[in-house]
Amino acid sequence: MVAFEVDESALYRGDNLAVMRALARTRSETFTLVYMDPPFLTGRVHEAISRVDRSSKVAFDDRWVDRASYLEALLPRIAAARVLLAPHGSLVVHIDPKTSHYVKVACDEIFGDDAFASEIVWRYRRWPSKTANFQRVHDVLLRYRKDPKTAPRFNQQYEPLAPSTLATWGQKQQRAVVGKEGRRLRSSSTKHASPGVPMGDVWDVGVIAPVSRERTGYPSQKPEALLERIVRSLTDEGDWVLDPFAGSGTTLAVAQRLGRHFVGIDASEVAIDTACSRLSRPVGSAIANR
Ligand SMILES: C[S@@+](CC[C@H](N)C(=O)[O-])C[C@H]1O[C@@H](n2cnc3c(N)ncnc32)[C@H](O)[C@@H]1O
Repeated sequence: MVAFEVDESALYRGDNLAVMRALARTRSETFTLVYMDPPFLTGRVHEAISRVDRSSKVAFDDRWVDRASYLEALLPRIAAARVLLAPHGSLVVHIDPKTSHYVKVACDEIFGDDAFASEIVWRYRRWPSKTANFQRVHDVLLRYRKDPKTAPRFNQQYEPLAPSTLATWGQKQQRAVVGKEGRRLRSSSTKHASPGVPMGDVWDVGVIAPVSRERTGYPSQKPEALLERIVRSLTDEGDWVLDPFAGSGTTLAVAQRLGRHFVGIDASEVAIDTACSRLSRPVGSAIANR
């Protein structure tokens, strides 16, 4: 069922497997990016907390018989998403270190041996928990390419230069001085300003602060700064982005703000209401079509 439609972008309420299979009839190979952030096999029911009166409502149920049943549900959804990707497109699946190795092996099979592109570690800071273990302060984002033979959509992003580099070279771009045998002898600098260091695969992005205006009260809401990095790196303006586990609509809100078309799907009514409230509609357009 369509819960929101503006221009050609849409948010569907329903089971994402059924919706993706229906989309495959008309929209196969359309999407440049599929970002999916499924439930993390927490064994819990997750509640949304109202920002107005602190009341709570069930948002989604993440209880499973065992890990096998969780993977049995997730893997066909990854395969269905792959069908919708354009040849130059990427899937990014966001999971935690409890399941990432299972999902990676499965994705290698679904996408093929050469399709793996990156394992991104999203490192965040949070209130420490009492545990006789190292604090868990990262999630895993696996990126797979639809077709490794096609040049991928990839817009290079940069990180700031390290303080030691700035102290030696200032903002000037470095250049390797190479000897006759092709070996790098030393570094020198050019007169051009450096854009920074090409972005690595360990990302320090803060979680959403409890008092942030961005916080919706929806459980496991991801920060817009994280999605902005993914959307900017892997899509151009006018490209199509799909989020089949849309939740509070972070991906869709970012895609809309950055001029990308989007399709979101979620089975939860609370998710759909939250996501709709984050999406903007051109003045005078029809009310959400529910
Ligand atoms: C971890 S949350 C996504 C959070 C989202 N990335 C955000 O920033 O708000 C996972 C979402 O997947 C949805 N979901 C779980 N199983 C689903 C299914 N089979 N079909 C559609 N949505 C599903 C849940 O309702 C939940 O909103």
